[in-house]
Amino acid sequence: MFSYFIAFAAVVAVVFCSPGPRYKHNFADCPAFPNKTDIAPTWWQCTQGLAITTNTASPSFMNGTAEYPIHLSAPVLITTDIVNSGPALSSLLADISLWEWGGWLGCSWHSFPTFGLLDNINACTHGTPCPVPAGASKMKTVIDFTPYAPIIKLLKNAAPYQIQYSLKDHSNGDKVVSCIMFQSEALLQ
Ligand SMILES: *[C@@H]1O[C@H](CO)[C@@H](O)[C@H](O)[C@H]1NC(C)=O
Ligand SMILES: *[C@@H]1O[C@H](CO)[C@@H](O)[C@H](O)[C@H]1NC(C)=O
Repeated sequence: MFSYFIAFAAVVAVVFCSPGPRYKHNFADCPAFPNKTDIAPTWWQCTQGLAITTNTASPSFMNGTAEYPIHLSAPVLITTDIVNSGPALSSLLADISLWEWGGWLGCSWHSFPTFGLLDNINACTHGTPCPVPAGASKMKTVIDFTPYAPIIKLLKNAAPYQIQYSLKDHSNGDKVVSCIMFQSEALLQ
């Protein structure tokens, strides 16, 4: 019986713990908000050398007023300064992944199951102004989880989340052109 439990726990651990950065399990220095996400968001490019380089990223309400924590119960505007080293892009698919922090397996990010709902979203009709021009530009992307109320209902309020947002060029074999990892505290009301 015990060995069945171990096997079950191992399967659950593999399913819920990959992917996402891990942290050595240590209660003493397990922060409630990793990377001080209770104070400010943090972000980085998940992959270097893609067609689009992102230099700044800041979240706000739709009216442009800075907001922190972000509210996932309403659309969030992410304003970025980007440089597109390739041609203008007008056929983009977005993939969004979500992780929550902590949980019963300790101090780490846990991939949140989105059941494919947030894969291959037509970005040009869902929040990304297209075409994305060649060269430097300011891009205003709307991240809107409101159509996914069943997912949002399962999340914890006022908790840290990690969101990966990547864009693929659908006119060029779905090649990934941009990838941002964003960590933020989120409110659900
Ligand atoms: C904190 O942010 C850095 C990037 O600035 C990242 O490499 C690291 O994985 C983050 N830590 C956690 C626990 O997410
Ligand atoms: C912008 O929108 C937020 C949320 O709806 C609101 O609280 C804030 O007062 C607005 N700011 C301005 C300048 O209208």
